[in-house]
Amino acid sequence: MPPAADIGTMYRITPGGALRGAIDVPPDKSISHRAMMFGAVADGTSRIWNFLESEDCQATRDAVSALGATVERIGPGDYAVTGASLQAPGRPIDCGNAGTGMRLLAGLLAGQGVDATLVGDESLMQRPMRRIADPLGRMGADVQTAKTGCPPLVIGAGATLRPTVHQLEVASAQVKSALLLAALGTSGLTKVTEPARSRDHTERLLPAFGVSLTVENLTIRLRGPQGLKACDVRVPADPSSAAFFVVAATLCPGSDLTIRNVGMNPTRIGFLDVLEAMGADIARGPLSHVGNEPVCDLRVRCAALKGIDVPSTWVARTIDEFPILFIAAAGAAGMTRVRGARELRVKETDRLAAMAAGLKTLGIRTALYDDGIDIDGGEFGAGTVTSAGDHRIAMSFAAAGAVASGPVAVLDTANVATSFPGFSRLARDVGWRVEDV
Ligand code: S3P
Repeated sequence: MPPAADIGTMYRITPGGALRGAIDVPPDKSISHRAMMFGAVADGTSRIWNFLESEDCQATRDAVSALGATVERIGPGDYAVTGASLQAPGRPIDCGNAGTGMRLLAGLLAGQGVDATLVGDESLMQRPMRRIADPLGRMGADVQTAKTGCPPLVIGAGATLRPTVHQLEVASAQVKSALLLAALGTSGLTKVTEPARSRDHTERLLPAFGVSLTVENLTIRLRGPQGLKACDVRVPADPSSAAFFVVAATLCPGSDLTIRNVGMNPTRIGFLDVLEAMGADIARGPLSHVGNEPVCDLRVRCAALKGIDVPSTWVARTIDEFPILFIAAAGAAGMTRVRGARELRVKETDRLAAMAAGLKTLGIRTALYDDGIDIDGGEFGAGTVTSAGDHRIAMSFAAAGAVASGPVAVLDTANVATSFPGFSRLARDVGWRVEDV
């Protein structure tokens, strides 16, 4: 358990209650980061509607302001961003908890040749950065990490970047995006090939800003140098935030919940396939579009789940939803097995270890592997668990509490504000008994 001083707020969840009604969940975090960064280097003024005003994305907003872009808040979630030729900020840039903010900014700044030091909170300062520093170094960029391979990231101006062929070892949208952003500042063709398709928001959004690139199977080709032109971006609702409500409604008897306009980008919704294979009752409404991203309403009714073996080919497009899927698995009949998910160990915390620890506290049997977990479905008992400083773990255990045999306390929940401001209020609005203490 973290020392008391680090605990911040906590949730107390009272079991019982069905989730009913129709809700909107917050805007997409990945797309909000990208829209703000791309607007910051585009020629002209971009308008961003439905920008996620969470701590992570606000850190990116503050970062681009410190780097010389003009960011004006016109209303809630509504921003006008005027691009600039980015300038050395003269002080370290604090990316907060955001791996996406730090890794994408590093690529962008390396490509634009800007001196900068990137730092973050306690969690981000322990996350691996060689995965971007090394390939950016192969392009000729000067990007240094601490000896441990973690931040601070120190980016030196003055390097001339060369176009490069990259074969990524892990499916990572952050790495892929950092390299594509750096490639904008090179002269020639950069190719990035991933082992499996990770989220493709960068490939979808750069063309809206006038950038030409091609995607063929798992390879993206981008010829530099290219500049961005301002455009208007509307951000859809975040499927990763919807996932907590989808699972809580699936588990709680009597639930019938609609979540409106949820992002349905195929690289993000592996969790729906997993839940449907487990027996969930999720009706997808007709597809429409928000900008260049597909969206639809989801209607979720309570259903009995059964354990499955999650195909490892589904892992990349399910990656952020494993904590909440582990709760679904723990509430299912039988065994669920996940492998090929070693990346979970280097997220905001080690999500395999932290989820296994919390599930054990609540009486669920698990077996932990280097790259996955087996979860034997059962009854959640009452107990006190910690988020380990990770927003997705905090919200996941809130779902466990809704169907436990007694109250569940989740410690260290202040981090939920990094991605889902207002989570507990929205939960209470639909009948999920999550109390802030
Ligand atoms: C993200 C990519 C993923 C994901 C993260 C957001 C992005 O990380 O886990 O929450 O916006 O590009 P990796 O690139 O490390 O897989």
